[in-house]
Amino acid sequence: MDVHNTLVLGSGGREHAIAKSLTKSQIVGNLYIAPGNGGTLNCATNLPDINIHDVEQVANAIRENEISLLIIGPEDPLVNGLRNQLEEIFTEDQLAIVGPNADGAQLEGSKDFAKQFMLRNNIPTAGHQTFISGQENEAKAYLAEKQAPFVLKADGLLAGKGVLILEKIADAEKAIDEILKDGKFGDAGNRLVIEDFLDGIEFSVFAAVDGNDYVLLPVAKDYKRIGEGDTGLNTGGMGAVSPPPFVDAALMQKVESRIVKRTMEGLKKENIDYRGIIFFGLINVEGEPYVIEYNCRLGDPETEVILPRITSDFGKLCLAIHKRQIADYEIEITTDTAATVIVVSGGYPEAYKKGIEISGLNQVPGEITLFHAGTRREGDKILTNGGRVLAFTAMEKNHQHALMQSYQAIRKICFQDMYFRKDIGFDL
Ligand code: AMP
Ligand code: GLY
Repeated sequence: MDVHNTLVLGSGGREHAIAKSLTKSQIVGNLYIAPGNGGTLNCATNLPDINIHDVEQVANAIRENEISLLIIGPEDPLVNGLRNQLEEIFTEDQLAIVGPNADGAQLEGSKDFAKQFMLRNNIPTAGHQTFISGQENEAKAYLAEKQAPFVLKADGLLAGKGVLILEKIADAEKAIDEILKDGKFGDAGNRLVIEDFLDGIEFSVFAAVDGNDYVLLPVAKDYKRIGEGDTGLNTGGMGAVSPPPFVDAALMQKVESRIVKRTMEGLKKENIDYRGIIFFGLINVEGEPYVIEYNCRLGDPETEVILPRITSDFGKLCLAIHKRQIADYEIEITTDTAATVIVVSGGYPEAYKKGIEISGLNQVPGEITLFHAGTRREGDKILTNGGRVLAFTAMEKNHQHALMQSYQAIRKICFQDMYFRKDIGFDL
């Protein structure tokens, strides 16, 4: 069996979880992560000086470390065409890449593209219309026929900040002017999607895709809002559970036939050679699944609960994505439930301090898998280095027990102004 020196790009909890799963793989040789964080250096070699948006730097790291398997964690390099650029430098045989090209990444990079794609391919999603600069009046006329809450989405990548859900029509009209006239979101707001509000419970489905076939990974639910009871500002994610108990076989059957299969057929029909992960952000409206959004990568914090449940070789899955051999990959998933709780810096998702020492990390019990996100190591200290700092993952027979373990473990650590939601799983 060939062994591959492997490089993971990214620095979050997602990438730590990816790296940790790869350490168990038979096909992974030396493992690198760029730039990595204060936790990834326990399972991989950090390449902290690499700018993952600079293709030359990435290509040099690949050559220097004889990398033959690359996993691209976050969306921005994918949307900006990192895969396309690397394919001009390395052949298919030299470098296996997990992550779509720029055409495929448009599913996440342009909300308008995603909506049009779903319309063309008969994939259930909220009704919508797209407006460009100069069409403020048309946009307001469209709104006038809708009922609150109003859902406004800037077209491009804005890390979740480009979605506004507004109760008052006056606020929505103001937002239209801010986005289309005043350029509040820059180029990412050149187009504005206005869509119908869907009322239901959200969940995340992931497919590993090789251009022809797919395999479903474990399903998860994340908690995006900063405040308890799902209140306050949107964040990257404050916790996650896999599997969410309300996602039953009947719902998944609809998800597969109406959403996953039609997405695969649509990509093929439109000549988009997608090799990577498709993340379907879904909502269950009275038993019927709809797509809220597509992402072109794994989720964070969903990865911190789905990868620990995959007991088959994750490195082999990564290779199968590249080699178009998903049909031969047999995924094994434990029936146990994984839960993760994210500890964040006080102030997040708005301004927060960095560089604060975290104490008690060595007291965290062995049953907990601790994934680092915004941390860095300085000497023998671990300091905060981002908004989301640590993910405490536990696996048990049910989500209540898993969450209890995560919360007990969080009590062992401390840093100034640390915050976490105490109600992850409250709605399950
Ligand atoms: P997105 O970035 O498109 O995932 O949107 C961020 C969040 O806004 C989603 O996770 C949902 O909670 C919410 N959202 C987006 N679109 C809709 C919609 N059409 N109806 C209800 N909630 C939505
Ligand atoms: N947890 C949502 C995301 O990764 O986009």
